[in-house]
Amino acid sequence: MTATSPRTAVTVRVPAKVNVQLAVGEVRPDGFHDLANVFLAVGLYDEVTATPADALRVTCEGPDAAQVPLDRTNLAARAAELLAARHGREPAVHLHIAKDIPVAGGMAGGSADAAAALVACDTLWGTGASRAELLALCAELGSDVPFSLLGGAALGTGRGERLRHLEVGGTFTWVFAAADGGLSTPAVYREFDRLTAGTDIPLPHAVPELLDALYTGDAVALAAHLENDLQPAALSLMPSLADTLAVGREAGALAALVSGSGPTTAFLVKDEESAGVVTEALRATGRCRTVRTATSPVPGATVLPRPAES
Ligand code: C5P
Repeated sequence: MTATSPRTAVTVRVPAKVNVQLAVGEVRPDGFHDLANVFLAVGLYDEVTATPADALRVTCEGPDAAQVPLDRTNLAARAAELLAARHGREPAVHLHIAKDIPVAGGMAGGSADAAAALVACDTLWGTGASRAELLALCAELGSDVPFSLLGGAALGTGRGERLRHLEVGGTFTWVFAAADGGLSTPAVYREFDRLTAGTDIPLPHAVPELLDALYTGDAVALAAHLENDLQPAALSLMPSLADTLAVGREAGALAALVSGSGPTTAFLVKDEESAGVVTEALRATGRCRTVRTATSPVPGATVLPRPAES
């Protein structure tokens, strides 16, 4: 097979994300909230493989596979349908998701699969969509999907879909603890609305000290400014998360927070050695489904070389 022959399978690797700042404003007339959302792509990955098929089909493997819908509600399936519709073709593709990102965990696993499916189908079908078109399609699919395409670090405004790339001056090490069970993102936002009802909600804005900490790669400074306005809502819906956060802090994490809408908890640590200590402490609680170490930032959705080329 030559490098120019049509592809019979395309695999795209796509990272999870953690929000180092998630400032949430008031609910808008369209039901979404204005955000200042500082995304960081972390090295936990799903892989989506697209192969030609008679009709759209989704399969999934991995520890959380049983919780992944395989019908048209799967965001990866919707991504394939959207790209096909825009280019006047049938979404005749088999999407296989090798899932390593916790499901319903606040790490944008579903969004990651959607971004990966778009890139995989675009490559398989030779659609030739521009980066700008892909980003626009991502924004139609969900607020976090454009960042999964972009990766690295970015400030998301609007409902989180308008992205500005951020430079990062170092590597940050994290421990992620997946809780038993998931939290639905809309439910967490509704709880945020309930908890903040009748209060003055400031306009969301990115904290300059936090952006500086990313730019200089200073983990201690980043730890001092980590912030998630959805955390009280996630803790209200799943109170046991507070104990998990405390265990990680006591084991030496520089900072601990709920990842996005949760219930995955994220622990920023100073190095691999500290990651090991925090991991052991979290595992010993018996409350965490899985505990994983990952570094950031990492690139967004990336087409993997064909097997013969690797
Ligand atoms: O955009 P996405 O489909 O990922 O959003 C899922 C849900 O999260 C929305 O239906 C909404 O309830 C909530 N959301 C929000 N404000 C945002 C992003 C998401 O209220 N900026």
